[in-house]
Amino acid sequence: MSSQHSIPTAVPSTPVTVTVTVIGLGAMGRALAGALVKAGHPTTVWNRSPGKADELVARGAVLAATAREAVLAGELIIVCVVDYDAAQAILDPLGDALKGRVLVNLTSDLPARSRAAANWAQERSIAYLDGAVMVPTSLVGTPDALLFYAGSRESFDRHEPVLKSLGGKAEFVGADAGLAAVYDLSLLDYFYGSITGLVHAFALAKAEGVRAVDIAPHLDTITRILPAMASGSAATGIDARSYPGEEANLAMMAVSVDHILHAARARGLDTSHLEAIKSVADRAVARGHGADDWTSTIEAVLNP
Ligand SMILES: NC(=O)c1ccc[n+]([C@@H]2O[C@H](COP(=O)([O-])OP(=O)(O)OC[C@H]3O[C@@H](n4cnc5c(N)ncnc54)[C@H](OP(=O)(O)O)[C@@H]3O)[C@@H](O)[C@H]2O)c1
Repeated sequence: MSSQHSIPTAVPSTPVTVTVTVIGLGAMGRALAGALVKAGHPTTVWNRSPGKADELVARGAVLAATAREAVLAGELIIVCVVDYDAAQAILDPLGDALKGRVLVNLTSDLPARSRAAANWAQERSIAYLDGAVMVPTSLVGTPDALLFYAGSRESFDRHEPVLKSLGGKAEFVGADAGLAAVYDLSLLDYFYGSITGLVHAFALAKAEGVRAVDIAPHLDTITRILPAMASGSAATGIDARSYPGEEANLAMMAVSVDHILHAARARGLDTSHLEAIKSVADRAVARGHGADDWTSTIEAVLNP
């Protein structure tokens, strides 16, 4: 086909490479910058304390002398420091330099801090994306690495290929800049609750003279219950406030928790989290959810 009859091809909205700046070279900032370098993006880095950039520089990153110089070097500015106090301490004096650029804050903190940062950016005409890294540093840059983003949809769409070089599962969760932190905290709530239960299960066994390695091969039976609950029936039921408990009802399970509590107390273990579990189950039973599923305890959690 001659060129005059060819169908015009869409011009890609994102250049192949984007100049990126990473501010904060702790464990996570270094992993993010490393992934960007690996993906071929010209990457400038800066950290408050010296000595954190050597390996990145050896791999091709440029170390800026100041945070301002770092910001001026990039179209896309990624910040990943310990918390939003630290992030704002760096960013506050740089509003003019950030104007017209896209700021992606991958620092973890509270949703309210993310929303305040988004307002701060909006007042200064800075496109703002808030984000949360959901994987350890070793998985950053891999196709399975999950990162949540919220805030400016336009910025996300424009820079999605760059963001995907940080983690293939780049999920935009909404225009409310606090939402990435909400997703982050919800997943971490699940994580810490689960590992606390896991560690306590080992403690209970050890207090009775059973080694953790003897319990471990059997824990998978419990673990396998969770994926289907988390992604399927429990989540749907919770949104619908429907908690059918024909297979295993809450009143029975509250008695089961009581057994664990008594066994742990008898061995002098810390029982604080078991008491919290028992308390929430008892309150849900008292509200009439005894015949319902365990997920009905959410009624006692949402309205304590
Ligand atoms: N590491 C992980 O596995 C992981 C996983 C998911 C999410 N995250 C999140 O990623 C963020 C960074 O974590 P990280 O593991 O990189 O932490 P980290 O290794 O402890 O590094 C902390 C970073 O914050 C900087 N910082 C602290 N206070 C500062 C201040 N007042 N002014 C300027 N910079 C300051 C540090 O700079 P200096 O070097 O100068 O102290 C360093 O760059 C956190 O929000 C964390 O929750 C981490």
